[in-house]
Amino acid sequence: MNPEKAFKYDVLINAEDLCDREFEQQDFLKRAKAKKRTIVFAPRRYGKTSLIKNVVGNSFFNLSRNHLVLFFDLMDVQSMESIAKRLHHGITQALSRRFPVKTLLKNATDYLKGFSLQMDMDPVTGQPSLSMNVKGREVENEMTHLMAAIKTLSQKYPTLIILDEFHDITFVPEAEALFRGVLQELGESAVFILGSKRHLLTLMFQDARAPLFQYGDEIHLNPIALEDWLDYFRERMTPNKIIIGEEELKWILETLCDVPNAICEFGAWLLDNIPSGMTLSVGVIKQSLDLMVENKQSYAYMLQGYTEKELDLMTVIAKNKFTLEPHAESFLKLIRVSKSTVGKIVKKFMDRGLIEYELEKGYRLSDPLMGHYLATR
Ligand SMILES: Nc1ncnc2c1ncn2[C@@H]1O[C@H](COP(=O)(O)OP(=O)(O)OP(=O)(O)O)[C@@H](O)[C@H]1O
Ligand SMILES: [Mg+2]
Repeated sequence: MNPEKAFKYDVLINAEDLCDREFEQQDFLKRAKAKKRTIVFAPRRYGKTSLIKNVVGNSFFNLSRNHLVLFFDLMDVQSMESIAKRLHHGITQALSRRFPVKTLLKNATDYLKGFSLQMDMDPVTGQPSLSMNVKGREVENEMTHLMAAIKTLSQKYPTLIILDEFHDITFVPEAEALFRGVLQELGESAVFILGSKRHLLTLMFQDARAPLFQYGDEIHLNPIALEDWLDYFRERMTPNKIIIGEEELKWILETLCDVPNAICEFGAWLLDNIPSGMTLSVGVIKQSLDLMVENKQSYAYMLQGYTEKELDLMTVIAKNKFTLEPHAESFLKLIRVSKSTVGKIVKKFMDRGLIEYELEKGYRLSDPLMGHYLATR
């Protein structure tokens, strides 16, 4: 018998927990094998990292005993030091996962020039873990060695390089130029660049004057279809004898702006809180959603750091669900702030990933559950 399926959220998920995305799994793996460069755009919490790192990355890793996956998470990097740490972490993780300690110690000096290697015992897992110590002290020096290590590894092994939330390097002066150099020299590897901040990615890859203009093929993750979600929900709810129909699920998808993380979090809440044997109506679902967000302590806490004007703007955007033109007179009237102030706040929220812009639909809160909290408060 199949083990019972659950709704997972706020975590990376594996192939068996993915709803839909069969086409993307195959297509991305094909692209990885063909050493293509791909820029994956999707809103926050849409499943980018799970799909590319866990699913495509693991399939690529399993192609042979030499296939290497270098994954770098660049979310919220603030300085060259933090970028160096992320690169260091990505390289050591990839190597320890791929090669036995003995092989590493024997061969690694070839491709990790400028570093001395050390094996430690991970106190949590008890597994040996690799650390690399840079021989020079300056961070520029370390960055040069890290970039060189990535290049050498990618020449030596079939390599998939994943740069997650890549756009955040734009907040670190000089970082873009540094990456540009290495990215353009990775001809032997597949590169996936993932991002959710469309306004920043666009500047990096779509502006004809940008140095990385047309660096790779742009692919967007689309919303998952209602029929796929219906199977996914029923697979998880039927064992608990909870019944959900198409109309009711459609209401959930629309209210939660198709964001998979929010949909799964709400699914999990329904499973935990709805009595067995019940058929869900839109009324019950709406009540449940109100109750769930009301009980989320984290929102009040997260919103503490914002000014009254900022909160007003957030609330109006949340109530609208999508706002096409926050600079329009009709919108400004609702919050009574100037056009230039709105511009500044919108930019700040976008840079932080608090709101995002969806083509043809407009701006919305990145976390639709927080949007629902604000809209119903
Ligand atoms: N295809 C899917 N099927 C079911 N759930 C999904 C799917 N894609 C994403 N999710 C949900 O979204 C959550 C977040 O996934 P993941 O971290 O991979 O997304 P992300 O786009 O990388 O997010 P972030 O913007 O935080 O980096 C998962 O825990 C899961 O709840
Ligand atoms: Mg991610």
